[in-house]
Amino acid sequence: MARFIIEGGRALKGEIRAQGAKNSALPILTASLLCSGKVVIHNCPNLSDVRAVFKILRHLGASVEFSDSTAVIDTAGVNRYDIPDDLMREMRSSALFLGALAGRMGKAVMSFPGGCELGPRPIDLHTSALCRLGFSICEEYGELKLERSSMRAATIDLGFPSVGATENILLAAAISEGETIITGSAREPEIIDLAAFLNSAGADIKGAGESTILIKGVKRLYGTEYGVMSDRIETATYMSFAGLTGGEIFIKGADPSALSAVIPVVEAAGPRVYPVPGGIYINGRGTIYSVPPIRTMPYPGFPTDAQAPIMAMLSIARGTTIFIENIFESRYKHVDELNRMGADIRTEGRTAVVSGVPKLYGAKVVAKDLRGGAALVGAALCAEGRSEIKGICHIDRGYQSLDTTLKSLGADIIRK
Ligand code: UD1
Repeated sequence: MARFIIEGGRALKGEIRAQGAKNSALPILTASLLCSGKVVIHNCPNLSDVRAVFKILRHLGASVEFSDSTAVIDTAGVNRYDIPDDLMREMRSSALFLGALAGRMGKAVMSFPGGCELGPRPIDLHTSALCRLGFSICEEYGELKLERSSMRAATIDLGFPSVGATENILLAAAISEGETIITGSAREPEIIDLAAFLNSAGADIKGAGESTILIKGVKRLYGTEYGVMSDRIETATYMSFAGLTGGEIFIKGADPSALSAVIPVVEAAGPRVYPVPGGIYINGRGTIYSVPPIRTMPYPGFPTDAQAPIMAMLSIARGTTIFIENIFESRYKHVDELNRMGADIRTEGRTAVVSGVPKLYGAKVVAKDLRGGAALVGAALCAEGRSEIKGICHIDRGYQSLDTTLKSLGADIIRK
């Protein structure tokens, strides 16, 4: 199993280019299933999760070509509506194929996406919304079977602004008769990106990014060419790396507008963040200070995906910072590993108390999820001595060639 060996203590310096957003690329690639005609997607990150979507699309009969961050998808040959268990398990957001297959084929058979490393990951909001749209869904032996009974437009009130459920409704209702309204929808920038992609293919969706979204069903979607937004969580991660190493990084193509909850926290901790034409420049030189309590919330609140990397940065702060994780139940798996490196973090339920320490030390640690893995990389970059990080398959799900990018910034990191 591959691992990272990192010799800590080098300030990261230089310029990198922001990757396309994983959480936009996955739903947009899935949505290409709805388009008749060639779909060209630019700024598509080369990640193991993205390659898992390609596998599912190919299994369903689509052709997929991918090179230089551009994916070209032709769904003319799609003739299946089943997804085998092993492909479903490769990627957490495979649940989005439920909405896409509902829209394309009126049918889907797939295994339950199930729980994951962040704790249980139910899809009850997805399935009840699809039922409201006139699909019948039954579950047998862990397998989900969806069938169109009488597709109808509906008003769907999501009790919680679930990102995935909002996306599944957009996918299922884009091609339909009548008007579907989502109230209480997720407002993440990636929802805006998905809706913009669908609109570029001929859909009629208004209000994405707000709590109420109006989807006027259209008869068909066409081929289109679209560029994925930049990855705000990758940018937040590099901000934490700059703070941890006292480095200076210019992230070309990064968008500060999607980070309005993160930038004030990073700046309150000490690093200076400058939105400049063409990207974001971060100066992480100087002392890291503790900040007021950080509560993860649905957008526009502080993103749960940035919790772990920012926690790593605050583990070396002067003072104590409290985190409250409101989105996922088990999102503190990096804490024990950070403590192995000398951090002083205690958790109880949804709360973590991070008492800053003057120094972290290299250690053997294991990445147990994607963002927690990135937090360990950040800690290792700052630590005195050598760290070995196992479980980097989790990191590869969301960061394109993290080791190569870090090397270009002067880090001493090897993949072994
Ligand atoms: C997406 C992101 C993930 C991010 C999360 C929250 C993608 C591919 N993933 O995940 O990186 O951490 O948003 O910003 O875009 N829930 C239910 N029932 C449901 C659906 C969700 O109880 O039917 C709960 C979940 O268990 C979780 C919370 O709602 O506690 C948030 O889930 P959701 O917003 O749906 O996140 P994802 O779409 O899975």
